[in-house]
Amino acid sequence: MAIHKILVTGSNGQLGWELAQAASSFTQFEFVFVDRNAMDLSKPNEFESVIALFAPDAIINTAAYTTVDKAETEKELAHIINAEAVASLAGIAKIRNIPFITFSTDYVFSGNATTPYLPDTQREPVNYYGQTKADGEQMAIAANENTIIIRTSWVFSSHGNNFVKTMLRLMKDRDALNIVGDQKGRPTYAKDLAMATIQLLIAINAGATIKGVYHYANTGETTWFAFAEKIKELAGLECNLSAISSDQFPTPAKRPFYSVLDTHKIEKDLGIQIPNWEMALKQCIQQLTHF
Ligand SMILES: NC(=O)c1ccc[n+]([C@@H]2O[C@H](COP(=O)([O-])OP(=O)(O)OC[C@H]3O[C@@H](n4cnc5c(N)ncnc54)[C@H](OP(=O)(O)O)[C@@H]3O)[C@@H](O)[C@H]2O)c1
Repeated sequence: MAIHKILVTGSNGQLGWELAQAASSFTQFEFVFVDRNAMDLSKPNEFESVIALFAPDAIINTAAYTTVDKAETEKELAHIINAEAVASLAGIAKIRNIPFITFSTDYVFSGNATTPYLPDTQREPVNYYGQTKADGEQMAIAANENTIIIRTSWVFSSHGNNFVKTMLRLMKDRDALNIVGDQKGRPTYAKDLAMATIQLLIAINAGATIKGVYHYANTGETTWFAFAEKIKELAGLECNLSAISSDQFPTPAKRPFYSVLDTHKIEKDLGIQIPNWEMALKQCIQQLTHF
């Protein structure tokens, strides 16, 4: 059955919002966006009735418990939202025989690698948020072998909370900033990820078999410090930036030192070319400074 009506959770998040912006250009689809009031991910026993009400042909779950440091203490809630709810949605999608797409993170990996992580590399999270997302992946696939998981990393957008917006605010307010320079990853523009997600729906409608784990991030890799330097340059701001080590910036949740995702599988299966992170950042900053 072709996908027409798509239920999207997390409409207020970076990715949910970017999907809503892109949706109007794809008239073959009817998107229904729900926020936490319409569908609370901490209440999986309510999912069936909400989903029955909309009767979608596919479910895209962008909602998640994403406050990485807070997850270290709010463990139960983080686990319900990122693991139990995801498994429940996967199970409902299986019963309804409809595609289910959910998102995961580079933080399912330990960060001990020195080459990009492949979708089938063993999960070994170093913080509780990563553990909940790893559990969510495993439980969703156990509930529904056709689950589609897209892992992404270092997400930014002109909407919501993210590193780019925090840096722009702090660089305007302060003369100098210390930024962690020993963690490496791939920034991801939520707008590009939203477009890839829609391309994935189009591929399914064209008959492609898409299931299992994919990686999506903008191309190129960087450190938080070099990311901040680029934000400063593109926004034309004056602020003295210094690179510090993770040890000098202790946080409740440990971060992996290296979480670069290998994205070849999604590029090949969807026949897409992923934009470079610096070009994507330029677009995002233009959007932010335009308004
Ligand atoms: N952000 C990143 O850097 C990053 C990195 C790697 C992977 N990811 C993954 O990518 C996906 C999209 O992330 P994002 O950046 O768009 O996240 P985000 O901007 O933090 O948005 C998350 C959304 O989830 C919603 N939410 C939280 N608890 C909820 C609940 N109990 N019921 C319903 N909705 C709830 C939030 O609602 P409110 O707006 O009401 O709070 C928010 O709209 C997530 O799976 C995330 O884990 C993100």
